[in-house]
Order: sequence, then structure tokens, then C-alpha cells
Amino acid sequence: MTNTLNFKRHRRLRSSNAMRSLVRENQVNKEDLIYPLFVVEGEKVKNEVPSMPGVYHISLDYLEEEMNELQALGIKAVILFGVPNEKDEVGTGAFHDHGIVQKATREIKNKTPEMLVIADTCLCEFTSHGHCGVIHDGDVDNDESLKLLAKTAVSQAEAGADIIAPSNMMDGFVIAIRQALDEAGFINIPIMSYAVKYASAFYGPFRDAANSTPQFGDRKTYQMDPANRLEALREAESDMDEGADFLIVKPAMSYLDIVRDVRNNFKAPIVAYNVSGEYAMVKAAAQNGWINERELVMEKLTAMKRAGAELIITYFSKDVAKWLNE
Ligand code: PBG
Repeated sequence: MTNTLNFKRHRRLRSSNAMRSLVRENQVNKEDLIYPLFVVEGEKVKNEVPSMPGVYHISLDYLEEEMNELQALGIKAVILFGVPNEKDEVGTGAFHDHGIVQKATREIKNKTPEMLVIADTCLCEFTSHGHCGVIHDGDVDNDESLKLLAKTAVSQAEAGADIIAPSNMMDGFVIAIRQALDEAGFINIPIMSYAVKYASAFYGPFRDAANSTPQFGDRKTYQMDPANRLEALREAESDMDEGADFLIVKPAMSYLDIVRDVRNNFKAPIVAYNVSGEYAMVKAAAQNGWINERELVMEKLTAMKRAGAELIITYFSKDVAKWLNE
């Protein structure tokens, strides 16, 4: 029977699993995943973060086991966040030779050298006031903070970090860190810049996990206004000019338009950060039986790839790798 109506039959390309996979444009690969880890002082510590089911604070003695598990799953990179025992005004724990991130980095690179270690470079987990820099006259002092961030990055590189990921949102942090790394001989250590980081309520569970909620005020004088789009391009542009090797957009889920904008305007690898609040929402709904967790997670991570991200930082990395291995 011939079709006399003149329309296009899109369903032809959706007729079976095999057909759909033949024409699929985007997919999540294990190689795209970066797994965030919260490391703490002490021994035999493995405490679940209450607002992030399945995410733990772990002590150094569990790192080897953790890395073996990740490698067996096919995950090649971790990003480290430190939760120190002690904090002070200037965040000394961030740049101390025996800081928790430095010790964790050494441990991982000793035991499982193939694992790529990305060090989050920020002060907020280490300052008593919870801000990402040093405080003068009630505000975060940009240029004074740069000196400490540069010191932090160098000490992380000395500990063996493969990539430096500054997340503090001070102006000029990429060039300050690049210069300090180069002067210390780390010319080959790339910078994965949190170039486009919004002041977001989606970071709530992370701040519980890292105990880094600001003790006064908020982060709106340094993190970006969620209403803005051109500002993202300005931030990405200056970071590229200053020498960034990767560009992070954060959060991911509600900011896929920004991921696409950044993808269209820059040639560096783009990293989408699927943040703690995005994770917590999915977990809570899944625990209530309200959504299909596996399908929903794969759908939203695929959307990040479709928006133009090459890499995804996600607390779901292990689950996703398991599903992809099945
Ligand atoms: C530190 C930092 C934060 C996150 C990553 N690095 C918290 C913040 O800016 O308050 C958030 C990550 C997440 O929510 O998963 N500056």
C-alpha cells in the first residue's frame, strides 16, 4: 500500500533496540566519569554522609581498597575533597604539607599510581569561617587569597596530584596558580578550572559533607548569579586566557544551556559537575520508590553529554560504571 499523505516517518529509526543504538548520537562512557571523594583524618573511618546516601567520609587506610574498586569498575579519575580536623582563619590545612588532601594524594599515588588524582583547590573546607578565601573587613580579599591558593596548588602538585582544580572563584586564580606551578617546575600539570560556578542552593549537601557552610554571609560576591548567561562566557574566556586546560560548568542539571554555550564558544574539554544537591534529590526520590533511579540517572548524564560536556564529575560514577559493565 502506498502512502498518499506526504509526511516523514521518524519512527523508522526507532523500531528496535538495535536500530536505536545504531542512530544514537550521544552516550555516557566509563572514561567520562570523575568520582568525588571526601577524605578525613583518623583510622577505619567510613561514615555515610546523611544527605548523600551512598557517599562516605573515608580515612586514608581505606583509600587503597577504594581505588581498587574504582579501577575494577573502569573509573580512571577521582577528585579529592579534604575534611580536616582543625580549621583556622586562613585555611592552613589547605596548603600544609601534611594536609589531608596532600596525604590522601600521596597514599593514592603510592598504592595505585595509574589512578588520576584531581585536587580540588579551595580554602572553604579549611577556614574557620567557611569562606573560600581570607577575610578582610568582612569581605573575602581577592588578591590575598590568590597567594594562599597558589601555595595550595603547589603543595598538592608536590604531593603528586595529576590535575589542579581550583574552585574558589577568586578573580585571577588560574594565572596565579599557573605561574606558581610553573615556577615550582610543574609545567606539565594541567588546570581544570571551575570557570563557571554559580552561587547555588544545589551545594547544600556538599557543605554538610565538607562542613563548609559560610559562618556569615554567603558566596554571592564571588560565585555567579544563576540569572546570568553572558557572565559565564566572560568567566570562561578569562580563564582560557589565563591558561586553563579544562573548563568546569557547575552545577550541571539546571545549567545545561550554559554547558552548551561554553561548548560552542571554547575548544577546551568541558566538564559538567553533577553536584551534591542534584544527587541528593535523585536518591531521595529513588528511596521513596518515586522514580526509576537507573533510568533517570542515565538520562540526565546523557543530557549532559548531549549539552556538550566531555567529562562528568558525579557521585553516581560507581553506579553508572556498574550499569555500563552489565
Ligand atoms: C568548594 C566546593 C564546593 C563544591 C565543590 N567545591 C562547595 C561550595 O562552593 O560551596 C560543591 C560540590 C557539590 O555540591 O557537589 N568551593
